[in-house]
Amino acid sequence: MGVLTGKTAIVTGAGRGIGREIALHLASQGASVVVNDLGGEVDGGGAGRIADEVVAEIESAGGQAAGNYDSVATVEGGQSLFQTAIDRFGGLDILVNNAGILRDKTIFNMEEADWDAVIAVHLKGHYCCTRPFARYIRESGRPNCRVINFSSVSGLYGNFGQANYAAAKAGIAGFSRTLALELAKYGATVNVISPGAATRMTIDLIKNTGREVDLDDPLQGGQPIARVAGWLASDTSQGCSGQIIHVARGLVGIMQQPAVIRSFVSDDLLDHDELNGLMPSLLDARATNVSQAKETGEPESV
Ligand SMILES: NC(=O)c1ccc[n+]([C@@H]2O[C@H](COP(=O)([O-])OP(=O)(O)OC[C@H]3O[C@@H](n4cnc5c(N)ncnc54)[C@H](O)[C@@H]3O)[C@@H](O)[C@H]2O)c1
Repeated sequence: MGVLTGKTAIVTGAGRGIGREIALHLASQGASVVVNDLGGEVDGGGAGRIADEVVAEIESAGGQAAGNYDSVATVEGGQSLFQTAIDRFGGLDILVNNAGILRDKTIFNMEEADWDAVIAVHLKGHYCCTRPFARYIRESGRPNCRVINFSSVSGLYGNFGQANYAAAKAGIAGFSRTLALELAKYGATVNVISPGAATRMTIDLIKNTGREVDLDDPLQGGQPIARVAGWLASDTSQGCSGQIIHVARGLVGIMQQPAVIRSFVSDDLLDHDELNGLMPSLLDARATNVSQAKETGEPESV
């Protein structure tokens, strides 16, 4: 008996990379898994049935899975994916919004198509797959439902050459905070993973920084992220919602959320000179906050 026995999960973009590891792990914990993947290139072009390979892997290990090849970037695709879970397994408990593409360019060279494609798969994709599930959670009263979304340090910190991807990934953080509020009364949780893993999306980038990639090292790929997704998917995580968990190579951390660090209030409109007086204190407070977070965020050994 695994911690997810009797549950059904959808994992988007689960034909390879992090999503594949999540699908395998959730299935190993007893969940029936809908393995969604459009099967395209990193930039979103093309299509294929790679989801079938993961379904076969799950089934040969004794688990239950169904393939789905819809694009998460359309409302019809999200609805059809949800329906696959209902038709094949009779319900849905866990949605992992993991599918993603990249079209990295600086703003000077970013065409409308590059912007639209990345926003469509990541940000709109989260909406398209989540809305049918959210309605179902409200209507069915199904307990302990879970939504696990995928952001990135690219959007949470900012990253040169990724304005489209960063905008989508920051948007996913905001989407998730609101969804956590909207679904709380139905007992569902919504959390975000900020992952780091060697996959086709990142192997070249990692190598460019001079780091070695060893795909036989279980800590370098998607497995550590799958373990955290498994915990978030389980009933044990009920008290954790609206959080951003950073997971990379054996490191598990919790991210800061936007909050006012220091503030002043006045009954009158502030003029330019008064702002000149106040703003340095705000910037100092911010710098202190950053250095404190850096100190408390230093990893401790487990
Ligand atoms: N690898 C990292 O270090 C890293 C860092 C930050 C964020 N992420 C995020 O993690 C998630 C997984 O990334 P990965 O590294 O495993 O990448 P990956 O390219 O290995 O896997 C992504 C999968 O999504 C699928 N996909 C793309 N568009 C789709 C669509 N419209 N519908 C359905 N499936 C689609 C692809 O076919 C692919 O199999 C992504 O959201 C990515 O942005 C990854």
